Amino acid sequence: MKKTLLALAALAMLGGCAPEAPALHIVPAPLSVQMARGTFDVQGISLNCDPAMDARSAGAVQRFADELSLACGKACEVSEDGRGMRFVQDDSIAPEAYSISIRRSAAEVRASGFSGFLYAIQTLRQMLPVAVYGTEADPAAGWRLPCCDISDAPRFGYRGLMLDCCRHFFSVDEVKKVLDAMAVYKLNRFHWHLSEDQGWRIQIDKYPRLTEVGAWRNGTMIRNDWDSNDGIRYGGFYTKDQIRDIIAYADERGITIVPEIDLPGHMQAALASYPELGCKGSKPQPYEVWTVWGVSRQVLNVGSEKTMRFLEDVLGEVADLFPGEYIHIGGDECPRDEWKTDPLCQAKIRELGLKDSDGVSAEARLQNYVTARMQKFLAGKGKKIIGWDEILEGELAEGATVMSWRGTKGGIKASSQGYDVIMAPTTYCYLDYIQSTDLEHEPFSISHNWATPETVGKAAVTLEKLYGYEPLAEIPEEARGHILGVQCNLWTEYIATPEHLEYMLFPRVLALSELQWCAPERKDFRRFKSDLSAHALPMLDELGINYRKLDQ
Ligand code: ACM
Repeated sequence: MKKTLLALAALAMLGGCAPEAPALHIVPAPLSVQMARGTFDVQGISLNCDPAMDARSAGAVQRFADELSLACGKACEVSEDGRGMRFVQDDSIAPEAYSISIRRSAAEVRASGFSGFLYAIQTLRQMLPVAVYGTEADPAAGWRLPCCDISDAPRFGYRGLMLDCCRHFFSVDEVKKVLDAMAVYKLNRFHWHLSEDQGWRIQIDKYPRLTEVGAWRNGTMIRNDWDSNDGIRYGGFYTKDQIRDIIAYADERGITIVPEIDLPGHMQAALASYPELGCKGSKPQPYEVWTVWGVSRQVLNVGSEKTMRFLEDVLGEVADLFPGEYIHIGGDECPRDEWKTDPLCQAKIRELGLKDSDGVSAEARLQNYVTARMQKFLAGKGKKIIGWDEILEGELAEGATVMSWRGTKGGIKASSQGYDVIMAPTTYCYLDYIQSTDLEHEPFSISHNWATPETVGKAAVTLEKLYGYEPLAEIPEEARGHILGVQCNLWTEYIATPEHLEYMLFPRVLALSELQWCAPERKDFRRFKSDLSAHALPMLDELGINYRKLDQ
């Protein structure tokens, strides 16, 4: 024992002022980490930006310097030289990759651009005391980085999270809080669900009634009682200025927003605003913004040119507002019964010569026509489309990206046919599903509608189940290059408050981050859980996030 203590003391001396460097607990786990001896003191260091760095990257370093100065209580200046932490532009490094090398007297970060520098900074933040995420100085927290060499790069380029702000509306501040946490875990796409049967959430200048009428519903059903209504008028929407603010906030954190306008189904709130877009001939029906959950059978009349103009106008404003390359056009769960009897839809089917064939109805082919027309329209604005996997039924034009949600089948089929794919199967990636088998104590969730004590094991998306998902399983070797990435979806029928929202997101988003970022051989659920306890969960506490506690 005495010998061991002596050996440890000698090691500590070799390592400099501190004892042996602590183990790292970085989520998602970096590709390669080599520990070295000693630590590097960051209190009051200078951060040196390579003059070759672009302004956006230098801005990220400046924000890190400001955060460090505040948290460790001693100014950390950005400069072009001096001893400290060097940020080096290295064009040989892949766009999202980075390397970090820390020794007792200096540290160096290398990347080729903004994303790499940003991810290196996120990694460094996770190596520091959690007070780095806070708003108050904590000079005694131990502001040292362990000496090490890290080289890191993501497995998938598309690392998404979807939030439904329609069934329940979440404030700009809450959306920003989610973006902050996404940034920590290196997620880079925020899929923002902005239109639904139960509420329209985005200002569209040409159609003001979408937000005057469509953003508000007369009450909400209570739990799963479809005949009930709480009688409380409910709603909200984001103005274009608020959206621009959120886009800029996300961009600073390396996150691109993928806005979704779900069409041609899930449109009852739009129909309540503009009844003439519906399927009842020229006679407007008393549509209402829906107060119950589920899939409305009332859909857009896509046989009408007026509806097509509406869609192009809306998507045009959305495309002008959001700078990202993708617009999500939904396409899921569109009941086509109304089209079967609507004279305009039937006339369009005849005009286009659409037939029931190969198990695909003429009405499903009419949806293909809408998808293709919107895809072409958006291509004219320099945008690509993403759609839920229903867009694969019938014919889908080249260049569309498919989001596989009804299991993995859609993703397998689409990638095999040469379409790009984002995997988001319900069984692993739906964060509205219950996260344990405890039906009695978990908050009411969509799983409570169908799960029984016997079946809840299958219905639950536990942390471990999500963590164990392998997105390339069953994808043929030659189609794997089409899997752009993975996404989790949070639908909010039963989630009305920020606290509940966070409870459903965390810590499952951290498991998501590892399957998006880490090579399969770097994944290890036991190591991941210990990283959560050691660093990630205290960090969520520091950020004021309400997460589900780990099962013991
Ligand atoms: C979906 O969950 N309806 C895409």
